[in-house]
Amino acid sequence: MILLVNGPNLNLLGEREPQIYGETTLADIEKMVEEACAAYGQAVKAIQSNYEGALLDFLQENRQEAKGVIINPGALGHTSYALHDCLKTLSCPSVEVHISNVHGREEWRRHDLLAPATRGQVVGLGPTGYYFAAVWLCSQLAAEPAEAGEAGGGDALEEPPADLQPVVGGDYEG
Ligand code: DQA
Repeated sequence: MILLVNGPNLNLLGEREPQIYGETTLADIEKMVEEACAAYGQAVKAIQSNYEGALLDFLQENRQEAKGVIINPGALGHTSYALHDCLKTLSCPSVEVHISNVHGREEWRRHDLLAPATRGQVVGLGPTGYYFAAVWLCSQLAAEPAEAGEAGGGDALEEPPADLQPVVGGDYEG
């Protein structure tokens, strides 16, 4: 199972500063990630919360089943040592996504407290960043040998199906 975690204010995607974040909604993103992961036989469990503690609880509660985490922490990425520590407790890889190019905006957005606790980041590529994170995580799982007693790491798939198109967000300029 892949965990999809979105932090504060990301519930307002679509209406929030569309010149920066585009018009794609969080529901669109969750559907895109679910479809991308389903193509690899991976289920997705998603959360969005404006509360740091709720995100920590979700990650802790699902830590045993999690095979990968896609996390856009919103502004918590710049402030939360607790989220950093929580990601470090997980045995699965995490990929951090930021829709906008945080390095090209205000100086404080360049500080990323989660980065050292993640396997990598997708930054500034719009909502499609979530898709790339999902495909990368699922590809890693598909390449893993099945564990004893398990159905397998995931269905091997060379490429996503042709009819699966990421939300490219033509309106995105962040
Ligand atoms: C964001 C970037 C953060 O700096 C900001 O606080 C957000 C969204 C992004 O996806 O670009 O809430 O994480």
